[in-house]
Amino acid sequence: MKTSNNISLYQEGSTLNKSIIFIHGFPYDHFMWKSQIRFFKVNYNIVSYDIRGLGNSFASDGQLTLESFVDDLETIIDDLNLNKPIICGLSMGGYILLRAVERFEHKLGGIILCDTKSEADSNETKLRRAAGIKKINTEGVKKFVADFVPTCFTEESINNSDDYSEILTRSINSDPAGVKGCLLAMAGRTDTSEYLEKIKIPALIICGEKDKLSPPDSMKELAKKINGSEFILVPEAAHMSPVENPGFVNEAIENFLEKYFK
Ligand code: MLT
Repeated sequence: MKTSNNISLYQEGSTLNKSIIFIHGFPYDHFMWKSQIRFFKVNYNIVSYDIRGLGNSFASDGQLTLESFVDDLETIIDDLNLNKPIICGLSMGGYILLRAVERFEHKLGGIILCDTKSEADSNETKLRRAAGIKKINTEGVKKFVADFVPTCFTEESINNSDDYSEILTRSINSDPAGVKGCLLAMAGRTDTSEYLEKIKIPALIICGEKDKLSPPDSMKELAKKINGSEFILVPEAAHMSPVENPGFVNEAIENFLEKYFK
């Protein structure tokens, strides 16, 4: 299904139930939420989608911004007429979610932030994004993705996860213009740290114990700034905790949902 703004959208479960929207990380697509979708569709209306430029949501001219990603999310909420959905975002999905809370918290019911951060890119990270774009231009998107994706998983997850090779294959086949557009969007995003202490809706913070991109210590600090939020450390997981330890993550999310939304 396509939304009015041409985003590929996937809906599962009954639309009569409370809605959860899942926003994937970079450079993935909605498939990374497979285990969460299967588990939560029984009791919730599940909406996932491909961020513009990735999966089946086309990049068009590739001129993407984090703000345009947040516009896309708002259009999904409005098009589907969702009443205060709970939103779960991983990494880049979390950047989108944190900016969405800042822009329209009144439209959201609760937030689940997985392996993400509120700070904008440091100079070092911006230079890494630029080097990534150069690599895509000179060596191709397949090489860029094949080098990047393994850095997000533990060695054990790479060897044992049923979904790892599917996730890698899907991202390797991404549109280069979309991947470069996402790198530019992330490099140009604003810092959302100041709004953390103003967040009033329930928040759950989830982090893989071996996450090197958004490490546990920095996510604990993020959790401390959001009043009443809970922090969950996921064993046997790096940056892709919902994929690497889905049972543990699903239980943490379930407990959060039962506490605030049942
Ligand atoms: C992601 O998983 O979305 C990316 O690692 C985020 C980033 O590169 O900052």
